[in-house]
Amino acid sequence: MARRLVVVTGASSGIGTAFAREFASHGWDLALVARREDRLKDLAEEMKARYGVESLIIPADLAKASAPKDIVKVVDDAGRQIDGLVNNAGAGQPGFFAETKWTDQARFLQLMVTNYLALAHLVAPGMAERGFGRIINVSSVSALLPSANAHTRFSGTLYPGAKSLLIKFSEALHLELSAKNVHVSAVAPGYTWSEFHDVNGARPVVSQMPKFWMLTAEEVAKAGYDAVERGVVLRVPGAWYKFLTAMSKALPDPVGRALMRMQEKRMAARMGAAQ
Ligand SMILES: NC(=O)c1ccc[n+]([C@@H]2O[C@H](COP(=O)([O-])OP(=O)(O)OC[C@H]3O[C@@H](n4cnc5c(N)ncnc54)[C@H](OP(=O)(O)O)[C@@H]3O)[C@@H](O)[C@H]2O)c1
Repeated sequence: MARRLVVVTGASSGIGTAFAREFASHGWDLALVARREDRLKDLAEEMKARYGVESLIIPADLAKASAPKDIVKVVDDAGRQIDGLVNNAGAGQPGFFAETKWTDQARFLQLMVTNYLALAHLVAPGMAERGFGRIINVSSVSALLPSANAHTRFSGTLYPGAKSLLIKFSEALHLELSAKNVHVSAVAPGYTWSEFHDVNGARPVVSQMPKFWMLTAEEVAKAGYDAVERGVVLRVPGAWYKFLTAMSKALPDPVGRALMRMQEKRMAARMGAAQ
């Protein structure tokens, strides 16, 4: 039997690279997607040497509407079928909603929402027909906690909402497809070491977070892989974030928001100290 193949978007860095390594360690071939082709090639060579798996390199800009079809075509043309999808590529949209251009917000939605859904829509029918599929959508703990300006000024006003949609989408698609052995999971990480906070400018604040707030990309990928294999719809990696999200569910909304405002003040103080 041919090895299974997983498409990993945003595989050139951070959580995406960790997901590629995780799937490869379980014997999956890879289709690696991102804009930085050189990094994808290096990762493919590393995965071949370590695990003997093959990779397709697919340079693509996922902020473009044409990208999902182009990606699937490359895999089809290589004579492979898609058994897994990790929707992970992403970046924040720094700046408050009313102060940024609509074209930037629309680009953000294309990258962070529409193309996640479009890729899932392209691959899900084949998975259902063949009776096997694994889809992971990388959400964020910000979807499960009250919003705070201190976060959205870096990641974007739409960021928590975009990530919330991925959780509800994963839940509903899993309900639709799990009887056909197509599992869909959302993984909702908190602060994770990667390039994300360099790209969105939050590094000075994030580098001052207590250590127990920080996850590694490997922890996130392991949690996501385990969740999708077990058919768990939502996984929050790390004990601290499990605690925070459980608290947020248990507390009345106004109390949760008040606690978030206190945390926000601490972050603002850290930001002041870092400038
Ligand atoms: N780090 C965190 O604290 C954190 C927390 C919760 C959720 N997340 C989510 O985790 C996901 C991965 O982020 P990360 O932390 O691993 O950040 P990262 O290290 O910056 O990696 C982001 C990845 O997305 C790719 N990407 C960005 N824009 C793209 C575009 N237009 N087209 C194609 N690929 C694009 C990047 O590749 P190229 O630049 O090579 O294209 C890179 O591979 C994101 O969806 C993020 O929202 C992160």
